[in-house]
Amino acid sequence: MKLAIVTDIHHGRPHHTKRGDTAMDQMARFAQAMRQAAPDLVLDLGDRITDENAKKDSALMSEVADAFSSIDVPVHHVCGNHDLCHLTAEENAALMGQSMASEVIDAGAWNILLWRADAKITWSDDQRGFNVPEADYLWLVHHLTAADKPTLVVSHVPVSGHGQAGNYYFEANPDLSTYPQTPRLRAALNQAKAPVIWLAGHVHWNSVTQLDGIFHLTQQSLTESFTTGGAPAGAWGSLTLDHEVAWRVHGLDPFACVLPVRTASWVPPLAPFAGRPRS
Ligand SMILES: [Fe+2]
Repeated sequence: MKLAIVTDIHHGRPHHTKRGDTAMDQMARFAQAMRQAAPDLVLDLGDRITDENAKKDSALMSEVADAFSSIDVPVHHVCGNHDLCHLTAEENAALMGQSMASEVIDAGAWNILLWRADAKITWSDDQRGFNVPEADYLWLVHHLTAADKPTLVVSHVPVSGHGQAGNYYFEANPDLSTYPQTPRLRAALNQAKAPVIWLAGHVHWNSVTQLDGIFHLTQQSLTESFTTGGAPAGAWGSLTLDHEVAWRVHGLDPFACVLPVRTASWVPPLAPFAGRPRS
């Protein structure tokens, strides 16, 4: 099974280091690359737009849908926080022409879990950040524990809780890089009987984190420029799911790795060391 991945397209105005003004050009390049790569399916991990208001966001989303329409293989979309700022999941579904409910894709020797968990950020005086609704958590637990073959989980927001040192957006805002429920999600992942690999967007950089023997990948945004000297990264990924997993990110911020497929079996970490008494 050969997948292609694009994430954090951010079509719209340029904002901070996001070169959203180049998104349609970058999508045309991506569509051309898909004609040559001919993957089995394409995954879009969300943040298709940079939000402004409901009317503008709806127009931007329609343009992104048009850009995907020239790709001649199945495309599966996940919503990101910018897609959900002024538009509902249902409005995203109508504009992109597919359900935004979580879904299992039978990929032969693999399963793909499109975990379309809520990715809206709440901003208030005493609270900010993401939240995993209980229904989304239960859907994930059910499908992880029921899985009888290697499973790729796909989401917008990463759940590894990996370090954000050096990340333009998240070094000073690590709470916004993941869900507050990461300990509970980690425990759920450790209940999986079959091997799991997790793929996400949101943090606008390429990363691999190994946690409890499970590999968590995040892919660079199509239009991010903080790692590429101001030019849009043009990042898109190819991911081959087989007896091992090969991931290559193309564009100006390239990355490549080959990962083994294995079931997590790490020994749980120790509690904090007690102070050593001084003689
Ligand atoms: Fe983003």
